[in-house]
Amino acid sequence: NRATTMKISIFGSGYVGLVQSAIFADVGHRVTCMDVDADRIERLRRGDIPFFEPGLEAKVISGVEQGLLSFTADAAEAVGASDYLFICVGTPAGSDGSADLRYVMSVADSIAQHMEGRKVVVNKSTVPVGTADAVEARISEGLTARGVSLPFEVCSNPEFLKEGAAVTDAMSPDRIIVGARSKATIDEFRQMYRAFNRNHEKLMFMDPRSAELTKYAANAMLATKISFINEIATIAEAVGADVESIRKGIGADPRIGYQFIYPGAGYGGSCFPKDVLALRHLAEAQGCPAQILSAVNDTNQRQKQKLGQRLIACLGEDLSDCTVAVWGLSFKPNTDDMREAPSRTLMETIWAHGGKVQAHDPQSMAACQAIYGDRDDLIYCENKDDALANADCLVVCTEWKTFWSPDFDTIKRTLKHPIIIDGRNLYDPGQLEALGIHYYAIGRGR
Ligand code: UGA
Repeated sequence: NRATTMKISIFGSGYVGLVQSAIFADVGHRVTCMDVDADRIERLRRGDIPFFEPGLEAKVISGVEQGLLSFTADAAEAVGASDYLFICVGTPAGSDGSADLRYVMSVADSIAQHMEGRKVVVNKSTVPVGTADAVEARISEGLTARGVSLPFEVCSNPEFLKEGAAVTDAMSPDRIIVGARSKATIDEFRQMYRAFNRNHEKLMFMDPRSAELTKYAANAMLATKISFINEIATIAEAVGADVESIRKGIGADPRIGYQFIYPGAGYGGSCFPKDVLALRHLAEAQGCPAQILSAVNDTNQRQKQKLGQRLIACLGEDLSDCTVAVWGLSFKPNTDDMREAPSRTLMETIWAHGGKVQAHDPQSMAACQAIYGDRDDLIYCENKDDALANADCLVVCTEWKTFWSPDFDTIKRTLKHPIIIDGRNLYDPGQLEALGIHYYAIGRGR
């Protein structure tokens, strides 16, 4: 287990690729991060990070200043620079829910086209089981087409970081899953991850297919926990119980645990919705039943409708004279990511019923505007109080810290109707009732 600088090239400068590039450089490896988007590469060279992620900018800038991290839009340069080539490109959902591998395969093609000596190719993107084998076949084809025979191995090393905590997650992983076959590669992975493998053994070696399925199983399990507690919340609401008491009551059992059993407006983001569907697709393609995954997805779709349904129950079907204050747009706090965000389902419901939105989010208003463009029925507010002005009621979509302890007197005074619909269970129903505010949360006995 020698401590030696390694040369690593990372294809893709999205969340996974950029974070991994920055933290490998941070522990002394020589990293080349490649992206086909030349403008993005130009900006990254100047330390301009294309998305909001706490702590990332400082690591990228310091990596560049130390000469350990460089950016290129030239695939040949990235292939030539390193023995280890990480594929960290996107795998968007195809129309049938399967993962679209076109970007992964295009990196495989570049590798086959430009490699000259032994390479270890590592899939870090979340990919269907069998992708390491498919990438291997694709590179072999490319080499055959060039009429050369060169040694290479394709491994799987899935990523488990969370947006908003990506840098800390990547610096202190719970586990490092590696699907690799050869002894030489396993030894090199030990060397590569040496700085992250502290306190106890975190590296787990397995075959590539098991590593690929571990990633999907982890996300599907977490999504299942969320849909489960959301279903319990619906039952709690129907029978007049409080899901917040139930959450604590079941979480105290270490076999269940407190994490990922927060009821809410449904899970969003770029991972859970897509990965649950991709795993279901994979299972069904093999003739395996996937009822749990289907139920997890269906429950989540219904959950995302809840805020809009509650709003209509409060204000009526016709929202044409209504303005709704929306606090929080991103799918969770500490990110500007709007992908699959429950706020989108809510806003689209409001618009479908003729209403207007006045929104405030600490980070994602630009991302929201990039999706919806300029429209009269969506007004962005610089602060959370501005969003309340002349609004009929307030809906909380994201649990940003700034929304946890608002001035309820101001809210009550400013809103036309004293109604708060809370998709994150941030407030105390008793306190709000005493203040004369009608408070509707998730699974809290109404
Ligand atoms: C998720 C996983 O947590 C990471 O381990 C994984 O690496 C990542 O996907 C990925 O595959 O790349 P992320 O999507 O960034 O990370 O966000 P989470 O913090 O997991 O939240 C996902 C969604 O679940 C959010 O909408 C959040 O509000 C919701 N959630 C989470 C709940 O509704 N309740 C909870 O108890 C926890």
